[in-house]
Amino acid sequence: MKTLIKNGRIVTAVDDYTADILIEDEQISLIGKKLEMEANKVIDASGKLVIPGGIDPHTHMELPFGGTESSDDFFTGTRAAAFGGTTTIIDFAVQNKGESMLLGADKWHQKAQGKAVIDYGFHLITTDFEDKNKSEMFQLIDEGITSFKLFMAYPGVFLSDDATIFRAMSAAGERGGLVCMHAENGIVINEIIKRFKAQGRLAPKYHALTRPTIAEAEGVHRAIALAEMAETPVYIVHLSCSDALNQVRQARDRGIPAFAETCPQYLFLSIDDYGETFEGAKYVMTPPLREKHNHADLWKGLKMDDLQVISTDHCPFCMKEQKELGKDDFSLIPNGAPGVEYRMELIYNGGVLENNISLNRFVELTSTAAAKMFGMFPKKGTIAVGSDADIVIFDTEKEHVFTLENQHMNVDYCTYEGKKIKGKVETVLSRGRVVIENGKCLVEKGSGQFVKRGECVKI
Ligand code: URP
Ligand code: ZN
Ligand code: ZN
Repeated sequence: MKTLIKNGRIVTAVDDYTADILIEDEQISLIGKKLEMEANKVIDASGKLVIPGGIDPHTHMELPFGGTESSDDFFTGTRAAAFGGTTTIIDFAVQNKGESMLLGADKWHQKAQGKAVIDYGFHLITTDFEDKNKSEMFQLIDEGITSFKLFMAYPGVFLSDDATIFRAMSAAGERGGLVCMHAENGIVINEIIKRFKAQGRLAPKYHALTRPTIAEAEGVHRAIALAEMAETPVYIVHLSCSDALNQVRQARDRGIPAFAETCPQYLFLSIDDYGETFEGAKYVMTPPLREKHNHADLWKGLKMDDLQVISTDHCPFCMKEQKELGKDDFSLIPNGAPGVEYRMELIYNGGVLENNISLNRFVELTSTAAAKMFGMFPKKGTIAVGSDADIVIFDTEKEHVFTLENQHMNVDYCTYEGKKIKGKVETVLSRGRVVIENGKCLVEKGSGQFVKRGECVKI
C-alpha cells in the first residue's frame, strides 16, 4: 500500500518546509519535492500543515476511580483522540495495593486489545514497591512499559510513602525507567478536607480550596529531592501552577534532570469555573483549577523548556450518575475531566495563535518531546524517513466551535462548551492507515497496536 501526501507544509520540532511524503505500508519511505510515483492514495495537502501525530502521554481510559469507572473505553477514547489529531496515547495501568505489577499491566493489555484505533503504550501506576518488586519492574521494562507513576496523594488508594518512592526511583533509574510523580501532599490535603467537611463546606468549589498550590509545590520539591538522592530523573505529571513550576525551574537551573508536563485545563480554565453550584463538578480534577494569574507563567515555562510536555490527564466522568456521586460532598466527586480530543486544537489556538509558543515548539510540546521522554523516538514524534507514518493534516484557516454535540468523547458535557477555535484537524494517519477523513473514523476497532517503548529520557 502506497500513499502520497502532496504539497503540504511539513512542520516538525525543528523543520518547516513544503514537500511531498511517500508512505509505504506503515512507514514514511521518502520525502522530497515533486514526487511523481504511482500510489494507491494521493492526498492533496496544499495550504495545510503536515505535522507529526499528537502523542498524549497521560490518559485514563476505563480507570476504576471513586466507586465508578472513567467513561471512555479504549475504543471511544482513542477514536476521540484521533479526531483531535492524537495518534498515540500512553495510558495508566494500575497495580492495586497488594497485587503484582505484572497483573496490573496484563489487565490493561486486555482492556485495550481489540478496542484501540490508534497506538498506545502504558505507564504502570505503582502502589507497592518493595525490593521484591524489582524483578517485576525490570520485566515490564523489557516488555516496553518503561515508566511508573507514583502518588503522594490519595491516601489509602494510591499514595506511596517516601521510602517506597525512593526504592521505585532507584530501581527504575538502574534500567532506564522513569518515575512519573503525582506531586501533592495528600496527607495534609486530607486533613484540610476533614476541616472543610466539618464546617459544612461541601460544594464542588471546595475541592479547589482544600488543595492549595503550596501542597503541590511541596510535593514537587520532595519528588525532585527524592529523585536527586536516588540519582535518577523524575517527571512531574499534571503540573498546575506557578508555585510548583518554580520548584522545577530551580532544580533545572541547578542542572537536575527534573521534567514536567502541564495540561490544557491549567492553561485555559481557572478556579472561577467552579462557580457556586454543582455544575462546578465538571471541573473537579486533581490538581484543581487555579487562579488565572498562573496561566501566563505556565506558558512562559512551556516556552523556556521548564515544562517539556503538554498532556491531557483525560479522565472523563459523566455528570449523570458519576459526578453526581458527590452531589452532597465534593470529596466524593470522581476526580477527572475529558480532554483528549481538544488538546491539539486548543494548544494551537492558545499557544501559536496567541504568540505564546512557535509552531515548531507546538509540535515539540504535543508530540516530539513525549516520544523522546518516554522512549518512542524516532519511531513516533516526527516526520522522517523510517518513522511511523503518524501524520496530521491540519487546516489552519477552518473555524469551528467546541460543543457537546460536535465531540466524540463518551461523556455528557463539554469542558469548553461554546469555545471558538481557529484551525482544525482534517486528516489523520496512524501507521499509514487513514484513521480520520471527512469527519469520519475509517479504521476498525482494535486496529491500534501496543507500542513497546525503550529507555526513557536521562538528561
Ligand atoms: O483528576 C484526575 N487527575 N484524575 C485522574 C487521576 C490522576 O491523578 O491523574
Ligand atoms: Zn495524578
Ligand atoms: Zn492522571
